[in-house]
Amino acid sequence: MIDFTWYNPTRIIFGRQTHLRVGEETAVYSKKALLHYGGKSIKASGTYEEIVKSLTDSGISFVELGGVRPNPRLSLVRQGIDLCRREGVDFILAAGGGSVIDSAKAIAAGVPYKGDVWDFYTTDRKPETVLPIGVVLTIPAAGSESSDGSVITREEGPDKRSFISSLLYPRFAILNPELCYTLPKDQIGAGGADILAHVMERYFSPNEETDLSDRLCEAAMRSLIHNLPRVLENPKDYDAWAEVMWTGNVAHNGLLGKGRMEDWASHGIEHELSAVYDIAHGAGLAIVFPAWMKYVGKSHPGKMVRFAFQVFGISPEDKTEEEVIRLGICCLENFFKSLGLSVTLKDAGIGREAFDVMAQKAVMNGELGSFRPLDETDVKAIYELAE
Ligand code: NZQ
Ligand code: ZN
Repeated sequence: MIDFTWYNPTRIIFGRQTHLRVGEETAVYSKKALLHYGGKSIKASGTYEEIVKSLTDSGISFVELGGVRPNPRLSLVRQGIDLCRREGVDFILAAGGGSVIDSAKAIAAGVPYKGDVWDFYTTDRKPETVLPIGVVLTIPAAGSESSDGSVITREEGPDKRSFISSLLYPRFAILNPELCYTLPKDQIGAGGADILAHVMERYFSPNEETDLSDRLCEAAMRSLIHNLPRVLENPKDYDAWAEVMWTGNVAHNGLLGKGRMEDWASHGIEHELSAVYDIAHGAGLAIVFPAWMKYVGKSHPGKMVRFAFQVFGISPEDKTEEEVIRLGICCLENFFKSLGLSVTLKDAGIGREAFDVMAQKAVMNGELGSFRPLDETDVKAIYELAE
């Protein structure tokens, strides 16, 4: 196990009707907030009205900015920064999923900053201060509700870039599984693939002797694989949603990667797909991850075999190592398919025209990953394997 520091200050408020407490939680930090959200979903579900009532009852005035799209755009972030400065806002409340939260984080970092907020995504510059952020989560997926990262797409390019800072951890995140009841099946599938990928990016590490972290990851993957079909079958199954929502948080709150290097190559390769084709992040990961496993599996066969056995129950008895690894990847692909996801670029309607440029951009800051570090040629080969 390698040395580590673990810090995650986000207060999680979990359970039924917890979103009704958003006013009192926000009042700890602010009297004037920005309510930031996406498209129609929070209005259609009634969540928007409930949040507005809670804020109003707690004496908080607010301005609002909706319209965040999946793969959130820099242009809306800029509008949000101008609005907050004009209105004297001192707190950003994100009501939605990873896209809304990441956009909220970008605004929170941009308001006090004298330069261009995009600097944080493209240079080593880090914010010295950010506005405090709160979250009402409506989809378990990205884990941004208690992560230190933000991922934004700049339309010109297009470029999808991320940055991390410990100042980006939200002060609180409200996780009410009941808010997930209205999620469409394709978003459940994409969110589920993202959660699984967050665990796998930590599980497939070059470091050995990380027994507790390995077992925690295996438990998280097995629980997710057990509970996702339950919510697809019955979208109002509170207990199954509670497991999925909590797994989504644990998958990306930092705990599961402790004591070892993480990888994140599949995320880097996927972000280029989302940037060019505007595909949902989790849907892209369902295509990239199996291809990445096929490409790198041979470098650490022991871990691949362990994955197949511990996560999908493939017994290594009477089989070669290669067979077990292949069957493990096959089970993963079948699981993604059962969530309604494509596992090839072709099925997602994506051709090979941007392979070169995506591979080049994916490694512009150096090699990707640690399980097996990848250069531009490797990344292109993975896109080809995903065809
Ligand atoms: O816009 P609305 O109408 O709200 O619809 C949203 C959106 O279309 C819908 N939705 C959300 N909650 C709903 C709902 N529909 C019905 N009922 C509900 N309760 O779901 C759609 C997708 O929302 P989005 O926020 O885009 O999903 P997700 O949480 O998967 O976020 C994806 C973004 O997060 C980034 C991804 O790259 C992507 O841009 N990530 C952020 C990370 C971080 N900051 O730590 C890490 C991740 O690896 C990821 O990269
Ligand atoms: Zn992700």
